[in-house]
Amino acid sequence: MAFFGHHMCRAFSSSAFRSVAIKHVVIIGGGQMGAGIAQVAASTGHQVTLVDTSDAILTKAVKGIEASLKRVVKKKFADKPEAGVAFIEKALRNVSIATDAAAAVQSADLALEAIVENLKVKQDLFSVLDKTAPAHTIFASNTSSLPIGDIASATSRLDRFGGLHFFNPVPMMKLVEVIGTSATSQETFDSLMNFSNALGKTSVSCKDTPGFIVNRLLVPYMLEAVRLHERGHGSKEDIDVAMKLGAGYPMGPFELLDYVGLDTAKFILDGWSAMEPTNPLFSPSPLLNKLVADGKFGKKTGEGFYKYK
Ligand SMILES: NC(=O)c1ccc[n+]([C@@H]2O[C@H](COP(=O)([O-])OP(=O)(O)OC[C@H]3O[C@@H](n4cnc5c(N)ncnc54)[C@H](O)[C@@H]3O)[C@@H](O)[C@H]2O)c1
Ligand SMILES: *[C@@H]1O[C@H](CO)[C@@H](O)[C@H](O)[C@H]1NC(C)=O
Ligand SMILES: *[C@@H]1O[C@H](CO)[C@@H](O)[C@H](O)[C@H]1NC(C)=O
Ligand SMILES: *[C@@H]1O[C@H](CO)[C@@H](O)[C@H](O)[C@H]1NC(C)=O
Repeated sequence: MAFFGHHMCRAFSSSAFRSVAIKHVVIIGGGQMGAGIAQVAASTGHQVTLVDTSDAILTKAVKGIEASLKRVVKKKFADKPEAGVAFIEKALRNVSIATDAAAAVQSADLALEAIVENLKVKQDLFSVLDKTAPAHTIFASNTSSLPIGDIASATSRLDRFGGLHFFNPVPMMKLVEVIGTSATSQETFDSLMNFSNALGKTSVSCKDTPGFIVNRLLVPYMLEAVRLHERGHGSKEDIDVAMKLGAGYPMGPFELLDYVGLDTAKFILDGWSAMEPTNPLFSPSPLLNKLVADGKFGKKTGEGFYKYK
């Protein structure tokens, strides 16, 4: 499987490209993730271009950023409302929008992709960007389940390609996983580390392996909770209470699955299962599959393991 292939080629980069501090970030994909990253980058002194396929999506994304900034400001500038208004204006002034990614990256230091989780679509995008972006531009993907090396293989800048994995909601969650493939140069890796630190995040480094750190541990844990319940060994409610009060987790596994989205969990699990069919941690769950087939994706559809009104 391609997954193992990219570990075999050793880094060949001799870094002819001097890395510069990342100032201009182009974020491709104005969904939940992209908008969150744009907000944080613009609030921390970066120039941001948010790219998506239509102006309507982008207008909605910017409205979402504005609403989210207002919530941040309410807490951060509770007793200084004018300073809060100025903070929002300054951050929004640093966000521009575009529908042509290839043109947008012409002045980018970093092109960060947060589009649909599909290898071919991501490869096609980066292959186009590779032709118009300057030599120094670093490419990064926020994929949560695809090997970074497989996406990078569509470009001629394997040494300037890495992963930046954020967590939803981006403005609240403190962690970024920074991923270097076997071909990512040290300079590129350091730039990505410096960038996530400049966003005010705590960074951890991780190899290009399925799920990186957080999802690799969290997804099998959530699925094991579903299997425990499927075996009739405990109710959803009891398992959730047990993990909250006994392990100190803020949400139980079923609450967390409903929050993440059952469709997303199934998608990740199916991908890993295809890569490692004999790994019991990745084996499919009939109950999860049934709920997804019935359109019960969790909070976002009003019903998953629990009902939401
Ligand atoms: N949702 C999460 O919890 C989460 C967490 C970490 C990583 N991710 C990853 O982030 C990525 C995006 O997730 P999301 O939840 O923001 O998805 P989303 O569906 O909300 O947003 C994706 C956006 O990309 C746009 N898009 C698609 N193809 C495009 C193209 N070729 N050019 C420009 N724009 C394009 C879509 O119009 C959409 O607005 C995925 O790769 C996902 O795996 C998601
Ligand atoms: C990054 O990944 C996280 C978690 O998988 C996701 O919630 C988020 O939307 C993604 N962001 C981008 C910009 O892709
Ligand atoms: C906006 O970007 C400029 C140029 O990168 C930077 O100097 C400025 O501090 C940024 N503004 C905010 C509010 O971060
Ligand atoms: C990363 O930051 C450190 C400390 O500020 C700096 O010395 C180094 O040059 C930076 N590296 C890159 C590649 O940006």
